[in-house]
This record gives sequence, C-alpha cells and structure tokens, in this order.
Amino acid sequence: MSTIQVQGLHPLKGEVEIQGSKNAVLPMMAASILHKGTVVLTHVPRIQDVFCMMGILESMGCICTLVGHKLTICTEGLTDIRIPEQYLKAMRSSIIMLGALLSRCGEAITCYPGGCSIGKRPIDLHLYALKKMGAQVIEEDGRIVAKADRLKGEEIHFSFPSVGATENALLAAVLAQGTTVLYGAAREPEIEALCCMLNCMGARITGGGTEVICIKGVESLHDTEFRVPGDRIVAGTYLACVMAAGGEGVLTGICPGEMETVFHVLGSMGAEIEEYDTGVKVCMKGRPRSVSLKTSPFPGFPTDLQSPILSLLSIGSGTGQILETVFEGRFATAEQLKKMGAQIRIDEKAAVVTGVYPLTGCKVEATDLRGGAALVAAGLSASGETTIDHCHHIFRGYEDICLDLQQLGANIRRIL
Ligand code: UD1
Repeated sequence: MSTIQVQGLHPLKGEVEIQGSKNAVLPMMAASILHKGTVVLTHVPRIQDVFCMMGILESMGCICTLVGHKLTICTEGLTDIRIPEQYLKAMRSSIIMLGALLSRCGEAITCYPGGCSIGKRPIDLHLYALKKMGAQVIEEDGRIVAKADRLKGEEIHFSFPSVGATENALLAAVLAQGTTVLYGAAREPEIEALCCMLNCMGARITGGGTEVICIKGVESLHDTEFRVPGDRIVAGTYLACVMAAGGEGVLTGICPGEMETVFHVLGSMGAEIEEYDTGVKVCMKGRPRSVSLKTSPFPGFPTDLQSPILSLLSIGSGTGQILETVFEGRFATAEQLKKMGAQIRIDEKAAVVTGVYPLTGCKVEATDLRGGAALVAAGLSASGETTIDHCHHIFRGYEDICLDLQQLGANIRRIL
C-alpha cells in the first residue's frame, strides 16, 4: 500500500515545472501505431498510466524505450490485435487503442475498459463512430471484436462531446478512405494537441480544438518527434494546493490560455493570479471564499478539478455548491473529507459544502486519481498530520506529487 503524509497549515512558497499531460500523451501513444515506424515523444510524464500504455503497446509487438522523459515507440513489429485484459481493467484510456488498431490491422479485440470508479462510463459513442465508418462490431461476453477491411470517411454526429470517443474517431479516420467530419466533437486542448501531432506525422486534419473536425484520409504516415504539452489538470491541482495552504507559488511549463475558466473560478475564490507566457503565479491570503460552480466539457470548468475544488470549498468562508454534470459518481472523496471535519451534503449531482477552518488531519484513503490529489490539498489546509493511504491512484497521473509540492515549500513525504 502506498501512503503519503502531509503536515498542514504551513504557507507555501516556491516554484515548480509542470509535468507533461497524461490526457495528451495517452492518445498520442495510441496514435503511434497508425504508422509502421518510429514515433518519439518528449516531456512524457513518468506515471503509471504511461507505463500501462507502454505495456499494451509492447504486448502487441511494439518496442517502447523510455529514457528520462523521452519515449521512443517503434511500431514495426506490431502483430497482435488483442488488447490484454489486465491493462484494460487498469486504465480506461486503453479503449483509445480500438480505432487505431482497427485502422492499422483491420481487426481489434478488446473488452470493456476500467479506470477510475467515477461513474458508469459507457463506450456507446466510441462504437457508434467506428460502426458509422464501416466497422463490424460484435459484442459478446464483455468482449468487443471489431473488424473492417478499410474504414470509410463519414459524417459523425456526437450527441455529447466525449473526449475519448472524439479521439477514437479521429484515430480511425486518419487512414480511412475519404473525408470524415466529426460534429459535436470535444474541444479539450488535449484533442488539439493530438491533431497537431497527427498532422506532424502527415495526417490532414483541420478544426482540432473546435466542435467540427475534418479529417481527410491519407495512405500512410511518417516518423515524427513531438513534445507533450504541460498538464493543465496537474497545474490546477497545485494551484488548489497553494490556495489550501496559503502563500504563493509559481508554476511553469503550461499554456495559461487553456486555463481561463479555472483561473476565473480560483480568482473568485480569492486567489490573485498572474499569467505569464508559459506559466502562472498564484498568491493566496486567508480562507477561500465559497462559490458555486458546475463542471462541464471544455471550455467549461473541468470535472478533473472538481475534487480539488471540493477540498477548497471545505475550508471556504461560507456555503458553496458544485454541480457535477460530466460524471455521475464523482463525489466519493466527500466521505474522506468528512473524516477531516468537512461539512458536505451530496444531493444527487450536487455537493453542498459549508466551510470549516481548519480541517483536522487524520487517516484518509484515496479512492480515485483526482480525488486522491484533492486529499493532499485538504491535508495542506488541516491541523496536524494527514495520512493518505491507497496513493497508487494518485501515481496513475502525478509523476511525483511529493517532490513537486516540496518544491512549493510543503511538508509532505511518501512513507510507503
Ligand atoms: C477524458 C479524460 C478524463 C476526463 C474526461 C472528461 C483522458 C484519458 N481522460 O475521459 O480525465 O475526466 O475526459 O473531461 O483523456 N460517455 C458516454 N458514452 C461514450 C463515452 C462517454 O455516455 O461512449 C459519457 C461518460 O459516461 C461521461 C461523459 O460522456 O459521463 C464524458 O466522458 P468522456 O468525455 O468520454 O471522458 P473520457 O474520454 O473517458
């Protein structure tokens, strides 16, 4: 069991460079198999989900070499069309392999994916897009077998801007015959980054980052080297940590333009935020002001930062509310925060939070990736010591949260 210990109520001061983005690098790794050759990714975060994706690629015959933060993927030897179950259960993003594998090999075998337990997480939109492009999809005993001689360009209309389904459709369309247009596509910056990487490999994609993406199919791609952008969710988590503890911090290696909604909410909670070209400075005095907000697809407030905000509202100066509109089961961390003294009432999709200051350090458990990181933020705002168990969830997405927060001046360590 992995455990982190945090001593709270020490104001922070420091600077940290933000790791590469988990949600950007995973689809990029899947994209590598569209090409028979070598793809090099730099600024790759050394996180469990990346190791898991490397395992998937290697099990299919690719050779992955991660040296420092540079990942070289040689896909020449890819022969196996099965995505092993052990990886699928560990990481939901493994479903992203489906479109790419189908496109490269004409067949893919997988089963229903795992990942964080934050909601039902169906994959109907992924399968809709692939079927629309001509794939034959058979679902039996939890297995999914997809086949297609060559996928065909089509008009695809998403009823919800699913990030994963947009990425799957994109990857399937790059080598398809003809033009594919995705309507109602997700607009997350990670999708724009994926389109940019694919275009560097020779794809012909326009509109990445907007709700209409046009992909003109090409015959083949070529080798490329691409830098993974900074992780806006890790940055948002650390901003919440500085706000929880008080003090000031500088985060570098991000694109502030991607975080306007987050800055706006944190600003309304009392943070002074100064944006630079590729960084941000946050300064926080006193308790956060309680606010009400809702999560929604980009450019709305990201659901991945809902838990860290829940921690901040737990020490807020009044009563605030979060409406979760993206994932239905994402309030598990509330139970853990309550152990620390937080006053939270869950009312279906909403959490109503009356601030208590300070929280009280105690033993808590991470139940999912972002929820675990939110408990670290809560620990920084609590009296005494907070011990967070089951931190393997956190290491799925944060390369070294303890080292990063130590650089920001926090008293935090991993003890197991
Ligand atoms: C991605 C992110 C995750 C983030 C989420 C929303 C990665 C690796 N993960 O997850 O960190 O929290 O976007 O920003 O990038 N849905 C369906 N049918 C589908 C697909 C999705 O109903 O076929 C629903 C889901 O149940 C959920 C909502 O759409 O309620 C959003 O899911 P989606 O955008 O697909 O998230 P992920 O790609 O899984």
